[in-house]
Amino acid sequence: MGHDNVMDGADHLLPLPSPGELVIQPLFPVALGQVQLRPDPLELAAQLQALLALRGGVCSNPDSGCAWTGDLNGVWQLQRHQLFAGLIAQLLDHARGYLLKLGFDLGQVALHIQRCWPVLSEPDQVVGRHHHPNAHLSAVYYLSGDGSGDCGCLRFWPQRQVNELVPGMAVGHGGPLQPTVWTGSFVDVPPRAGLLVLFPSCLDHAVLPNASADELRVSISLDLMLSAAASVQTPPEYLAPHPSQWQES
Ligand SMILES: [Fe+2]
Repeated sequence: MGHDNVMDGADHLLPLPSPGELVIQPLFPVALGQVQLRPDPLELAAQLQALLALRGGVCSNPDSGCAWTGDLNGVWQLQRHQLFAGLIAQLLDHARGYLLKLGFDLGQVALHIQRCWPVLSEPDQVVGRHHHPNAHLSAVYYLSGDGSGDCGCLRFWPQRQVNELVPGMAVGHGGPLQPTVWTGSFVDVPPRAGLLVLFPSCLDHAVLPNASADELRVSISLDLMLSAAASVQTPPEYLAPHPSQWQES
């Protein structure tokens, strides 16, 4: 993997429009990463069975409309389970690929798993809108879903709707602002078994209702953090030193 998307000075210059023409250009993209893996059917079946066993008799969080999430139920270190360790190592490889594309020098930073937990969403269950202020990079891997979105899309919202010009006007209520590609207020990712999604942890997201009649929606979430690499003698000030160099008071 090379630094094939590194910008140079010329890339900061927007092309100028032809005379008399209105040109609107998209600026400042959010980096949503997606990788489609090919899960081994037998391994996938074993993982699904293991997650059901970890959920046990509790099927919600605890509101019956909210999906069961392992982070609130003591199951937040899935990477330490033998059945998931290989998969999660594979997901981390892709997370490093994402960091590389964002311009990070992988020799200078270390990527840490902070939490890794399953989310099981029964029909009609949701996960409300939230973000992960504790982490830097978040990831979701799907163990179910056919790509149709029936079992509940992952919805993302932008941090700020700068194109609304008047904040809040895209909310609706028959206002004069119609949704366009410039004012669309969210994007949805339909789950598909084997799909990995990577996104900045600060981005608001939610899981829409599982509208399938009987399909369980199953995913694994990861919260990842960046620090300076352990080998870095003087960490740059914007990066936490490697945790092995921390001292608990
Ligand atoms: Fe989340």
